[in-house]
Amino acid sequence: MSILITGGAGFIGSHFALRMVNQGKHVVVLDKLTYAGNIENLNEITGDENKFKYFKFYKGDICNQELVGHIFSSEGVDVVINFAAETHVDRSIMSAGTFIDTDIKGVFVLLEASKRHGIKKFIQVSTDEVYGTVYHDAFKETDTLNPSNPYSASKTGGDRLAYAYWVTYKLPIIITRASNNYGDYQHPEKFIPLFITNALEDKKLPLYGDGQQIRDWIHVEDHCAAIDFLIVHGENGEVYNIGGGNERCNIDTTYFILDELNKPRTLIEHVKDREGHDRRYALDCTKIMSLGWKTQIKFETGLRDTIKWYKNNQKWWKQIKNSAFVEYYNRQYAHRFVNTCK
Ligand code: NAD
Ligand code: DAU
Repeated sequence: MSILITGGAGFIGSHFALRMVNQGKHVVVLDKLTYAGNIENLNEITGDENKFKYFKFYKGDICNQELVGHIFSSEGVDVVINFAAETHVDRSIMSAGTFIDTDIKGVFVLLEASKRHGIKKFIQVSTDEVYGTVYHDAFKETDTLNPSNPYSASKTGGDRLAYAYWVTYKLPIIITRASNNYGDYQHPEKFIPLFITNALEDKKLPLYGDGQQIRDWIHVEDHCAAIDFLIVHGENGEVYNIGGGNERCNIDTTYFILDELNKPRTLIEHVKDREGHDRRYALDCTKIMSLGWKTQIKFETGLRDTIKWYKNNQKWWKQIKNSAFVEYYNRQYAHRFVNTCK
């Protein structure tokens, strides 16, 4: 079995690639190495010859039909896990073009190649953001999709396109919608790693609005285990929610990080809110849980370990918080700090 993992140099994809290699599966990673991709995330594989023998890396774009076709025919791909995406909501609000390209057109290119080559399984890694804000209870897989920012709208396009290839061509598709992931190797533009690394640098933590927005956190290893589980136990044409069952207000998560690092709460700065900010995400995970999957990692334990990892791996994130990141950070945050909410 040869597994194509797209976006395998990113946060979740690199964890999944390691998991597959550890199981002795032949893994092919296709990754464009955008600002979010980092070959060092795969060091545990590339630095170990016993693991490396199961592994092949292609630097390239999932929108590139020729390259994708070449990989399918020369690597004998029979399972595709599509993690590749532009993933940061704030960047999609600043500029949506690459999100439309990768998160919709890229999915199309992978689906077409999969159809031509008769693969056994295609997992489209979607997101809970496709449902939009939930005010009461939790979203089921059958609920209406109501994405509210360019990232989630483009992910909804990819999600539904994958479904269409099941209905129309009987391509063996599974769609997963996970909640917010956290863990090691997450890019420091995202909330938890940004706040940990800013706190370590004694910089302000830009908390959007009142900080009462709710996210449901799942550890990246629990998410990867769920996808692994669905390759075997999931039914084609079905959607599966994958939630952590850890709903937390952003402000409480921020307090936890500061307390763990022994840093003062005065580092928090309530800044201008994200445009169209979804207030709460929550998933009903009865469907996957009734098949036998459940999370293993308690949020506080996982977050404590994640904080320790960022404390002990400063070289990794300091390289990422480089001049290009500073330029992005200023564009994204300068106006927010000016509009600091008192
Ligand atoms: P990430 O931004 O850390 O990694 C994305 C990877 O995709 C990077 O390595 C990047 O180089 C690569 N990539 C981007 N455009 C590409 C292209 N055109 N061709 C090939 N490679 C490309 O993202 P992540 O947080 O690991 O998310 C992975 C997937 O999981 C995404 O599809 C995302 O929508 C989904 N997801 C993420 C979360 C979360 O909380 N992080 C939750 C639910 C779903
Ligand atoms: O829910 C799944 C989604 O989770 C994934 O599909 C996305 O790829 C992933 O980026 C994530 O999206 P969010 O927008 O929820 O994550 P982010 O880390 O950007 O923000 C988490 C919360 O923290 C959100 O309510 C916004 C808030 N926030 C974020 C940043 C970056 C702040 O208050 N300040 C910040 O500086």
